[in-house]
Amino acid sequence: MAANLVKTGISGLDAMLYGGVPEGNQVIISGGPGAGKTLLSFEYLYRSAKMGITSVFFALEETPERVLANAKAAFTEFTDIDDLIKSKKLIIDGEDPTTVLRSGSAGGTSQYEFGKVVSDIESLVVSSGAKRIVIDSLSVIDMLVSDPVVYRRSMLALVNNLRRLGVTSFLTAEMANPERRELRFKVEYFVFDDIIVMYEKGEEDKRMLAMEVIKTRGAKHSFVTTPYEITSKGVNVMSAEEMGL
Ligand SMILES: Nc1ncnc2c1ncn2[C@@H]1O[C@H](COP(=O)(O)OP(=O)(O)OP(=O)(O)O)[C@@H](O)[C@H]1O
Ligand SMILES: [Mg+2]
Repeated sequence: MAANLVKTGISGLDAMLYGGVPEGNQVIISGGPGAGKTLLSFEYLYRSAKMGITSVFFALEETPERVLANAKAAFTEFTDIDDLIKSKKLIIDGEDPTTVLRSGSAGGTSQYEFGKVVSDIESLVVSSGAKRIVIDSLSVIDMLVSDPVVYRRSMLALVNNLRRLGVTSFLTAEMANPERRELRFKVEYFVFDDIIVMYEKGEEDKRMLAMEVIKTRGAKHSFVTTPYEITSKGVNVMSAEEMGL
């Protein structure tokens, strides 16, 4: 039986995904700095919350307040964000990044800190009954756990935890070199079900943003690298017709 598809609600992205991401999948949103990973993930949860699905944004890189302020500044037409927060359909929480990093760099405590982040996320999902979550970003966890073997095990533990919880997650990850031909994934990313990459091609005074779906476990997807833009109405991924396909 084909998996149930979860609509991201992001204009153009569901078409690239032939309907959406399979329910319960763990999706990596990878890209360079400023590509829009945080905003895209925020919009995914905003759209879910509007459909009445409890959604949790867990911020590790910036404070929840800043994530909210940036999203409101970019998506000025999302006028009901505060209502969704008030009705607890949209929950924006997080761990103070400086505290997380400080204790992580102090040595032996990093594994404990990572475990604490994971259990905090889990408690929040369980207590709120969330079905969709975002963790922004995994790169912070990378900094938290210095031993590569421990890091891989931690990633696996995180993914298994999210699977057990049954949530459909977007997890953002910074890519050091977001060029197609340089595309290499860390070995631990292979435990995730889906990979979406957001490229930024800088050209003098004009920049081009484009999205590619690398894989979706359990469903088909487009192989076309597709331009997108960040607008006040949300992220807008070009349609096949607009691309002349
Ligand atoms: N008000 C706005 N209007 C249009 N575009 C905006 C607006 N605010 C932000 N952006 C765009 O969104 C980008 C930032 O998006 P976002 O914070 O989601 O990126 P990111 O990939 O998460 O970056 P980082 O790696 O730094 O976390 C900016 O580079 C800018 O191009
Ligand atoms: Mg970000």
